[in-house]
Amino acid sequence: MNPVVWTFPTRILFGEGAIQRIGLEAHRLGGSRALVVTDPGVVAVRLVDTVMAALEEAGVVTSLFTEVKENPREASVHAGVAALRAKHADLVVAVGGGSVLDVAKLIRMRALPDVHERPLLDYDEAIGGERHISPRMPAMIAVPTTAGTGSEVSRSAVVTLEANRRKTVISSPYLQPSVAILDPKMTIGLPPRLTATTGFDALSHCIEAYLALGDHPLCDAIALGGLRLLAESLQRAYHAPADLQARGAMLKAAMMGAVALQKGLGAGQALAHPLANDRGIQQGLAKALCLPAVVSFNAVAVPERIQAVAGALGVEDLGEGLRKLRRELDLPHGLREVGVAEGDLADLATRAAEDASIRTNPRPCGREELLDMYLSSLLIWHHPVSPEVLGAL
Ligand SMILES: NC(=O)c1ccc[n+]([C@@H]2O[C@H](COP(=O)([O-])OP(=O)(O)OC[C@H]3O[C@@H](n4cnc5c(N)ncnc54)[C@H](O)[C@@H]3O)[C@@H](O)[C@H]2O)c1
Repeated sequence: MNPVVWTFPTRILFGEGAIQRIGLEAHRLGGSRALVVTDPGVVAVRLVDTVMAALEEAGVVTSLFTEVKENPREASVHAGVAALRAKHADLVVAVGGGSVLDVAKLIRMRALPDVHERPLLDYDEAIGGERHISPRMPAMIAVPTTAGTGSEVSRSAVVTLEANRRKTVISSPYLQPSVAILDPKMTIGLPPRLTATTGFDALSHCIEAYLALGDHPLCDAIALGGLRLLAESLQRAYHAPADLQARGAMLKAAMMGAVALQKGLGAGQALAHPLANDRGIQQGLAKALCLPAVVSFNAVAVPERIQAVAGALGVEDLGEGLRKLRRELDLPHGLREVGVAEGDLADLATRAAEDASIRTNPRPCGREELLDMYLSSLLIWHHPVSPEVLGAL
């Protein structure tokens, strides 16, 4: 029997004002010229200024790269590599949400000339691309400004590639940032809607990781711990954006969700990817809309685990608890409300079925089951799908 492998290597600095230590961390990593990767939204709220100032105060030369969009595309990676080489940067500092962190990871991967020069498609996790990824890359510091993806500790980068036009996961332990700095002050300006949607991303990571196939007692315990933190902090952070204690708890939970997802995810992730990729729906929102259907599909396979998740969240019925939370966070109730029509579902289900995440879903599922889950997520419960529509699907 092959042994399973359990690793948690990222160095994490947590606390109010932790960002002021970034210069010291840069020195510790031997970096003297930093490429700071971010996006226009993060620049607009002036979070990057704080980071640049702290680095410069410590004598680290900085240059700024801001060409990252939500649901990022491959072109940002190539432009970032060109910027890094032009400035002779020896350290990548990412300041932003998952989109920024993921692009920064791939800029880092391709930073050195003649290293990792294959087309990005060759590194796709789904075709075993990890075997091409070596540790030859500069150090990276990740500073999350959303509390959702946990990309600051994850080994994955998710970018839409030109060759296949879908969100592609590139994954290796070497892509884990060298240091993650979790400073609650970096998230207090996050607007309520993004607090809610990114929070649902963290929630779905914890839930799906806990339900996923596999033997990983560490990830299971971390996932449940993350859920308890989310239960006490998500609504508080939504209603009181400057509550640093709630913001801190959210950052911890998001980080824990990403540690836990090393075990695997499930159908929720697969359903969300094409919605984000093809329809531009914020990924956390896509998960918020699909998660109740996923939970009810999985209930027959792992009833005790579903109960344990409900217990950690302090709700009786998990599906109903998630729908209630969605309402309390003023999120839409169904895919229909975000512009997805019945006629779109067949195509979306085909794309979802190609996603590697379904391999660890606790109940086997393929295109037909995913289509059913989309259908249930489309519905607002008092708005049933007509028999003609069901027939057409
Ligand atoms: N690598 C991983 O492990 C992993 C896991 C899950 C999701 N992802 C990916 O992460 C991406 C989503 O990341 P996200 O949900 O963090 O959102 P995001 O990075 O796409 O950011 C969303 C918006 O929020 C703005 N923003 C970020 N921080 C802000 C702040 N503090 N104040 C005001 N505005 C702010 C950004 O400018 C952007 O416009 C997706 O592409 C998804 O596929 C990666």
